[in-house]
Amino acid sequence: MPWTPPKELPPADIQQVLQGQKALVTGASKGLGAAVAVGLAQAGADVLINYYSDEAGAREVAAEVERAGSKAVLFKADVAKEDQVQDMFETLDDKFGRIDICVPNSGIQLNAPSHEMTMKQWERVIGINLTGQFLCCRESIKRFLGQGINKDISYSAGKIICMSSVHDIIPWEGHVNYAAAKGGIMLMLKSLAQEYAHNKIRVNGLSPGAIRTPMNVEKLTSPEAFEDQLLRLIPYKRIGEPEDVARAAVWLASDASDYVNGSTIYVDGGMCLYPGFIGGG
Ligand code: BGC
Repeated sequence: MPWTPPKELPPADIQQVLQGQKALVTGASKGLGAAVAVGLAQAGADVLINYYSDEAGAREVAAEVERAGSKAVLFKADVAKEDQVQDMFETLDDKFGRIDICVPNSGIQLNAPSHEMTMKQWERVIGINLTGQFLCCRESIKRFLGQGINKDISYSAGKIICMSSVHDIIPWEGHVNYAAAKGGIMLMLKSLAQEYAHNKIRVNGLSPGAIRTPMNVEKLTSPEAFEDQLLRLIPYKRIGEPEDVARAAVWLASDASDYVNGSTIYVDGGMCLYPGFIGGG
C-alpha cells in the first residue's frame, strides 16, 4: 500500500462561470483529467469524457459530472490515432452541437535511461503526450473557427488548455521522451495562440508539479521518503491536489482570463524556483 501525505487543500467553491459551455477533456478517467472534468462541470459546462483503458473510472467521473448538474458523454479513443480523434469530435458535434473548451490532458510515462530507450517507448509517449494534444487542438480550432463568437456563451470563440508539466522547462533524467513531449507542448501552444489570436481563440497551458495522482502516489512510499525526496523539491512544502489544477483550469476556461493567451501557469508549489538555491545555494 503506498503511503500518501494528508490533504492540505484550502476550501474554495467553484463559481458557475461556464454556464452553457461544452467541454472536452482527454484522459479524464482518473488523475488530473478527472478533476478537471468535474471542475468544469461544477462551473456549469457539459463535458465529453475521453478515456482509453479505464472505462470504470470514466463512468465514475461521468456520475460526478452529472451530480454537478451537467451532461456527461463518454468516448473511448486513443488520442495518438488521427481517425479515433476525428470520430471523437464527430460524436461531440452530434451530442453537444458545439465546443467551447478543449483540455488535451492525456499523458503517460514510459521511463528508461536515454541510451536504452526503445523506439516504442519514445514513439508512444510522443504520440500520446504531444501528437495527441496537437490532434485535439486542430480539431477544436476547426470548430471554433466555424462557430465564431456568441457573447452569451463566451467572449472568445473557444479556449484550449493544454496540460503540460514543470518538465516543459525542468530537464528530467530518465524521462527524455516525456520532457521532450512537454517541451514541445509549450511551443506548440504558444504558436497556436499566436496563429489564432485574431480569431479570438485562446490557447494556454497548465504545468503541474508533483500532484497527488495515481501516477505519483506510487512514488510516495513513506513519510520519510516523501520528506526526503519530494518535499525537497517543493518550496511550498505540500504535495499538490488535482483540485489545485482543476481550479486553475476553470479560470483559464472562463472569461475572467479573457486577456490571457499563450501563457503557461505553473501549478507547482514553486518547484520551478530552483529549490536547490534556497538558503543561498
Ligand atoms: C509528472 C510527475 C512528477 C512531476 C514533478 C509531472 O509532470 O507527471 O510524475 O512528479 O512532474 O516531477
